[in-house]
Amino acid sequence: MGTTLMTGASRGLGRVAAEHLLRHHPDRHLLVVNRTPGLAAELTASTGNRNVSEVVCDLSSFDAIRRAAAEVEGPLDGFLGNAGLQMATTRKLTADGIEMTFGVNVLAYHLLLNLLRPRFTNPARIIVVGSDVHDADLNTLGLIPPPRWDHPRELVKPGKDSAREGRRAYATSKLGVIYLVHALRRRLPKGMDVYSYNPGLVPDTELARDAGRVGRAAFRAVGKLLVRMPFASTSAEAGRLLAETMAGPRPGESGSYISRGEVIPSSAESYDERREEELWAFADELCGLTSDDTAQTRTARP
Ligand SMILES: NC(=O)c1ccc[n+]([C@@H]2O[C@H](COP(=O)([O-])OP(=O)(O)OC[C@H]3O[C@@H](n4cnc5c(N)ncnc54)[C@H](OP(=O)(O)O)[C@@H]3O)[C@@H](O)[C@H]2O)c1
Repeated sequence: MGTTLMTGASRGLGRVAAEHLLRHHPDRHLLVVNRTPGLAAELTASTGNRNVSEVVCDLSSFDAIRRAAAEVEGPLDGFLGNAGLQMATTRKLTADGIEMTFGVNVLAYHLLLNLLRPRFTNPARIIVVGSDVHDADLNTLGLIPPPRWDHPRELVKPGKDSAREGRRAYATSKLGVIYLVHALRRRLPKGMDVYSYNPGLVPDTELARDAGRVGRAAFRAVGKLLVRMPFASTSAEAGRLLAETMAGPRPGESGSYISRGEVIPSSAESYDERREEELWAFADELCGLTSDDTAQTRTARP
């Protein structure tokens, strides 16, 4: 029986994906990593499947991530990194003093995936949820400014207390997700596949909850109109598709970008080995990763 570790299973499209996995793939164990205890029991109550356990972790703390990774038992053959956030500012910091959006959406995955590497079986499938807003040419009707990449030493610093810059930081962090996936792909052996995933616009989630009452109400109102457009979907659809991409046939070559279930090229800017390796090296240093953390000798057998 395989085990999939999943972050971001408590709400939004991730909640749908987790429940879909438990209802339709009951032979697989689901290990949810979430900040509030009790999610595994909630998921059992809503799906009737007891094949789920949890590790509590706030991804905005490197210490918490290290404690959580140490608690993960047994071999993993799946990883679904769905947790992510969008802030209405770039001034909020993680426990380690890093700009929150970059800390949670990018660095938390770098640390968690590197700590868990010895626990992955071969074959394994790793998916980290990104977004099409990583693409500076995407028309977001002005809602999300294009990403602005810089050396990661700049991206980890707090910026302006501006909702627009918070949304830009979100777009930039999702470009970072693709860079990390490309860099990880070069380091994993054949059989261990890693992908970035774009769910498309899913307006009925709580991603905009940091925007305050007015911002949230505006997002919900726009969302009600947008959800009917071909580029948008409901969390019910997006979650089901994400779960099926996780549990279904091999989606494509490792390193690919999967958009709403289909492999497509990501933006031209997102293929940049120099930036990818610069991010990897910087993230290693910032997360305090050592060769002991990532020793491959303990790679699990399926
Ligand atoms: N909605 C969209 O239009 C859209 C479009 C493209 C990509 N995405 C991506 O899709 C993913 C899911 O987003 P969503 O729209 O479903 O948003 P959501 O409703 O806000 O759900 C976000 C999930 O991430 C978890 N999370 C956030 N910060 C965390 C932290 N510090 N530690 C642990 N868990 C944390 C949340 O847990 P809590 O319940 O504890 O807060 C929740 O489970 C995200 O990666 C998002 O960037 C969304």
